[in-house]
Amino acid sequence: MDRERLLQGFIPTWLGRTLEVHGILSSTNDRARELLDQLGPEAHGAVILADGQRSGRGRFGRHWHSPPGLGLALSVALWPSAAADELACLPVAGSLAVLRALQSAAGASPALKWPNDVQLDGRKVAGVLLEGRWNGEASAGLVLGIGVNLTHRPEDFPPELREASTSVLASSGREIAVEEAAAALLTELAPLLELGLDRPRALLEAASPHWGHRKGEWLEVSAGDDRFRGRFVRVAQDGALVVRTGDGERNVRFGDVTRLRRAP
Ligand code: BTN
Repeated sequence: MDRERLLQGFIPTWLGRTLEVHGILSSTNDRARELLDQLGPEAHGAVILADGQRSGRGRFGRHWHSPPGLGLALSVALWPSAAADELACLPVAGSLAVLRALQSAAGASPALKWPNDVQLDGRKVAGVLLEGRWNGEASAGLVLGIGVNLTHRPEDFPPELREASTSVLASSGREIAVEEAAAALLTELAPLLELGLDRPRALLEAASPHWGHRKGEWLEVSAGDDRFRGRFVRVAQDGALVVRTGDGERNVRFGDVTRLRRAP
């Protein structure tokens, strides 16, 4: 990635004051964590970018496929003062920033999938991973990692991901340069992170028109050890997923969902 080209489209503020551009890294989240461990609160707003990752991580310990030159791998180091439960919405700042960046830079029409995936044509184009350390309720540094598939062809994904994954190129035909995508994403991300850190409810309100779930669609939900099926009702104002099951409505604050193609 060409740093100068990135800086033609993105003006660093508190976000990006430290801006590292790497070739291949193990994981941009690991590098952001190193900075937090070295610098403490001074690392707040540092941005790490890489052309590819050897051990990119997804949620629930999954591997994030990050081959060199095909996608965007980015992490932001944060040292917020807010308490843990007020920070749970931060991944939505990442997914909404991706959504807006893909609209503006690629003319694409993405949607959000709960809790913080971005989809094009019902397939995953981007994911967000928030990792944190805590001192009781106070944060000792958070890392917001964002991965976006830009120019993968279907055959570039491992077979097990092919059905559920896509890239900007595969879905919209637009071959967007990684610097252009990174600049658009960081430009959208700065105000959304400020909003999420300051007024989490307002961030969730900004995201609410973009959930791609249809009312009544069937979902398989995993929440901790609990696994159940139900129909989508809404994403609540506090970001929880509301699902109707045979036993009534359930609010899920943390977890993952699979959209079922037909009623179970
Ligand atoms: C998910 O959908 O499971 C989250 C994927 C997050 C991937 C990004 S790529 C940049 C950053 N570094 C990592 O190791 N993971 C995140």
